[in-house]
Amino acid sequence: MNIIVGITGGIAAYKAPELVRLLVKDGHDVRCAATEHALQFTTRPTLETVSGHRLYCDLFSSGSTEHISLKDWADLLVVAPATANIIGKVASGIADDALSTLLLAMPPERTIMAPAMNSQMWAHPAVQRNIATLLGWGIRTVGPADGPLACGTSGTGRMSEPEEIARQVRCVATEQVRCVATLLQHTQQPQPAPTTHAPLAGQQWLVTAGPTYERIDSVRFIGNYSSGKMGFALAEALADAGAEVELVTGPTALKTGHPHVHRTDVESAREMYSAATQLFPACTGAILSAAVADYRPSECADHKLKKHGSEGMTLTLVQNPDILATLGTMKRDGQRLVGFALETDNELANAESKLQRKNLDYIVMNSLRDAGAGFGTDTNKVTILGRDGSRNESPLLSKQEVARMIVETVTQ
Ligand code: CTP
Repeated sequence: MNIIVGITGGIAAYKAPELVRLLVKDGHDVRCAATEHALQFTTRPTLETVSGHRLYCDLFSSGSTEHISLKDWADLLVVAPATANIIGKVASGIADDALSTLLLAMPPERTIMAPAMNSQMWAHPAVQRNIATLLGWGIRTVGPADGPLACGTSGTGRMSEPEEIARQVRCVATEQVRCVATLLQHTQQPQPAPTTHAPLAGQQWLVTAGPTYERIDSVRFIGNYSSGKMGFALAEALADAGAEVELVTGPTALKTGHPHVHRTDVESAREMYSAATQLFPACTGAILSAAVADYRPSECADHKLKKHGSEGMTLTLVQNPDILATLGTMKRDGQRLVGFALETDNELANAESKLQRKNLDYIVMNSLRDAGAGFGTDTNKVTILGRDGSRNESPLLSKQEVARMIVETVTQ
């Protein structure tokens, strides 16, 4: 791919040449665009040497339309680090230097940002509002990560490591290959017969399903027992009702042959986050049934870890992004958002609190105390709680029947 790495004025700019080096190593043609402040932390000769191209920094150095020719050349713009300032500028439509002008010219779905700032700045409502705006337009984000910050404190705000950003770029490259494959498949397949009863015709729904795997090393991961059956049944029930369904699934052996279910396979919570935030803006609604790991190992070894004598081993875990809560902040008027709550005690109170906290329209509550409900089974028993105070309880049914009941309730 042709990639522009945009660099803004945060201390993490010193890691930008390493990111450029990794992307070049992956076979991409990389150019750099930097703000003047970024050059306080890294240098023009370094960026020009690692990329092999002239640095784009001055809006008028080669005429006044270079941002447009660069936009036409690039498949992807990766801003790393992205300061609170550049995030705010893009969210407000400000273009007052070379990089911000390029960012406004670039289609949002071809832009990735790796925020980096102090944790209190990151938590500020203005920054969170701006990030939600960017995500709503289809811009993707990587990080920020947790850990020690340049100001001497510790918290969420560190730029994700260059390896992690390069990995996200690889995901985008893979998605593009998949998109082309899907397009080819669609043009080659006969069109399905029109559905006779299609109350959701013209609607597009997003469903997440299955577990996530969080890598420890090249052969091990942290996972859970989710089979994906409930999510696949939901995707098919929505498609049977006439919707086009984007199914984002974690690792599972399940298959779906439904012509209106378009599947994206992911492995980790962060890959699921990236796919779901990308797809949600174009959807009528989303049902998030995946069992997403709340935590991942802070580091993933690229080789098999060896054991050392009889010593124990400690894994440090860091929190994953909450996909459902993020979609709750992105939700526009008219969009429906449905979450799941798998509870063991105080079931209704916990589910009710998740419904409010994550800005949902409905929450589907599973109690692990009910026999035949939960992970791996072919049956389920749920209570669907609505934001309007409605409460709909199912008996023990097959997951397909429960899916139909959920779809009927949340799409009415
Ligand atoms: N979920 C998500 N992203 C996460 C964690 C959960 O999208 N990182 C979604 C699940 O798909 C589900 C809902 O959030 O729809 C509830 O998941 P659950 O694990 O029950 O709730 P948590 O918010 O993680 O709360 P807790 O673990 O404290 O019960």
